[in-house]
Amino acid sequence: MAGKLRIAAFASHGGSNLQALIDGCASGQIAGEMVLVICNNRKAYALERARKHQIETLVISDTEFDSETALAQELLSQLAARSVGLICLAGYMKKMPNDVIRAYRNRILNIHPALLPKFGGKGMYGIHVHEAVLAAGEKETGVTIHLVDEVYDSGKIVAQRRVPVNPGDTPESLQQRVLEIEHQLYPETVARIASGELRLE
Ligand code: GAR
Repeated sequence: MAGKLRIAAFASHGGSNLQALIDGCASGQIAGEMVLVICNNRKAYALERARKHQIETLVISDTEFDSETALAQELLSQLAARSVGLICLAGYMKKMPNDVIRAYRNRILNIHPALLPKFGGKGMYGIHVHEAVLAAGEKETGVTIHLVDEVYDSGKIVAQRRVPVNPGDTPESLQQRVLEIEHQLYPETVARIASGELRLE
C-alpha cells in the first residue's frame, strides 16, 4: 500500500487502546499515522494522551448539535479535511451517526471486550460486559475487532482472540486481563490493514 494510512480515533474515556494504537504507529508496527483524536467528552484522558504525542484533538459532542445529520456533517468535514482513511473507535461510548457510517463504509473499526456476537448490544460496554460474562458462568471470554455498521456491535468480525475466565475472577480482574489482549490485538489488526495484508470489504 502506497503511503501511510491516515487514522482517526474516537474515544470517550481513558484511551488505553488509543495509546496502544499511537504506540503502534510510533514504533513502525503500523504503517500509519494517527492524525486526529475526537472525544465526545472534554474530560477524557484520551485527549491528554493525544496531546502528549502532538496529535490534533477535537471535542465534538452530540449535545451541541440539533440533529444527527448536523453532527455527522461536522464529523465528516473534520475527517475529510485530514484525508482520514481509517477510523478506529477506542472506547467510544456514542453511536456513530449513520451518515458517517455510510461515508466510511468498511473503514470504521470498533474494539469490544468480549467474543461477539455474545455479550454485545445495548448496555454492553466497559465493565458491564465483564459483569455479564461472569454472571453467565462463562469459562472464556475475549476480544473482538469488528467493522461498524448501522446496528450496534453487529458488523463483520475482523479479528478475535480468546481470554480465559479464571476461578475467583472479579469484573475488574477480568477487565484487566482482557485489556492486555486488546492492547495487542488492536495494533496488530490495524497493522495488517495498513500493510494491505488484511482487506476490509
Ligand atoms: C475497552 O475495554 C473497550 O473494549 C471497551 O471500552 C474499554 C475502553 O478502554 N469498549 C466497549 O465496551 C465498546 N462497546 P480504554 O478507554 O482504556 O481504551
